[in-house]
Amino acid sequence: MVIYDKVRDRMVAGYRLSHDPVAERFVEWRRYNSAPYRSATHGQRFVNNYANATARAYGDYENADELPVGSVLAKDSFAVTQRGDVFTGPLFLMEKMPKGFRPEAHDWRYTMIMPDGSLFGTTNGEGNERVEFCITCHEAVGEDQQQLFFVPQEFRVQFLNLR
Ligand code: HEC
Repeated sequence: MVIYDKVRDRMVAGYRLSHDPVAERFVEWRRYNSAPYRSATHGQRFVNNYANATARAYGDYENADELPVGSVLAKDSFAVTQRGDVFTGPLFLMEKMPKGFRPEAHDWRYTMIMPDGSLFGTTNGEGNERVEFCITCHEAVGEDQQQLFFVPQEFRVQFLNLR
């Protein structure tokens, strides 16, 4: 948390160079993890999970129904070396698109933005083939969870005012 508080502004400044509207805004959204946790599936980096207001039901975790079109989930990331050096990692995004966008991915658009703001890839757009691996892993979760893995149990925030 201490490291994250120190580096967050710098991370966000880098992501913003992408001019992606989500990169501009996500830090103002609700955060669903209590503290950064290490994610083996996102390059062993420390990550956080944010969701916009449309994606409010994300906080119901496994009990959430299909999230509405316009839901956006954002996961920022950073790495800390043994020596204590800190590096910004990519910004990982999932955006729920209108029906038919990518049926076998439950119409999620996956995007990866590099720490310097360059676009690594986005589903059905530039660098599409480079983000196929996101879908391959996320579709491994049960069909009822619609490609969502949710926050690890021990880092989940329970909001009292969800509904
Ligand atoms: C090898 C499996 C794997 C790959 C590859 C992967 N993810 Fe994930 N993703 C997960 C898991 C597991 C979680 C939840 C736990 C965590 O954060 O580590 C998750 C969580 C997320 C979340 C939060 C929403 C949720 O599912 O709860 C986003 C956003 C996300 N990933 C985006 C991406 C993007 C974009 C890519 C590709 C650039 C990607 N992921 C690649 C496994 C993967």
